[in-house]
Amino acid sequence: MLKGGKVGLRARHEDDIPILQAELYDDVANHSRADTRPWRPITPGSTASKVVVDDEDERLAAFSVVELDSGTLVGSAELWHIDHHNRSAHIGVSLLPSSRGKGYGTDVVAVLCHYAFTVRGLRRVQIETLADNAAMLRAAERNGFVREGVLRSSAWVMGEFLDEVLLGLLAEEWKPDSKG
Ligand SMILES: CC(C)(COP(=O)(O)OP(=O)(O)OC[C@H]1O[C@@H](n2cnc3c(N)ncnc32)[C@H](O)[C@@H]1OP(=O)(O)O)[C@@H](O)C(=O)NCCC(=O)NCCS
Repeated sequence: MLKGGKVGLRARHEDDIPILQAELYDDVANHSRADTRPWRPITPGSTASKVVVDDEDERLAAFSVVELDSGTLVGSAELWHIDHHNRSAHIGVSLLPSSRGKGYGTDVVAVLCHYAFTVRGLRRVQIETLADNAAMLRAAERNGFVREGVLRSSAWVMGEFLDEVLLGLLAEEWKPDSKG
């Protein structure tokens, strides 16, 4: 398990799947804002579920997020599109509704940076998030991410096109313990 100050990131367990599917995936509005892929109904127990991890996919490192103290599941986090030629990857985080706004998201981003830069030797990580996602923008910036641009009208979200913000962090800019 990878440990931050408040949360741990561990492999996906079988028991996590129905909780993540019900509280994250099946919340259509949440999914539509947090994922560029369209929502569609997935049968419980199906291996096509987006919360079932494909261990064969080497471009993906998918974690379940747990509270360090209690071990309680609080969400999902991943390094995706891991590219060993350009030594880059993208970060994704989705926390259960009751676990948001407690500093866990900021901590998850820090742990994913440690994984990307220290464990995997990557040079660059990036985050794309909706321009109105204040919590995600702040969680990224608190870890040193820099706003690199606005992707205008890049996301179709529940009936409208929204802008996304692209944020990036390079290995040499990363300060492991700073949350400034
Ligand atoms: C986005 C998300 C991962 C952020 O994690 P979080 O644990 O809720 O955020 P934190 O508690 O670490 O807060 C980060 C910062 O944002 C602020 N913040 C938190 N919730 C906020 C809100 N709803 N509106 C404005 N600011 C907010 C916090 O005050 C904190 O700022 P500070 O460091 O200046 O105090 C989480 O809210 C989430 O899973 N949301 C739904 C899915 C999603 O949007 N995922 C991202 C897709 S790219």
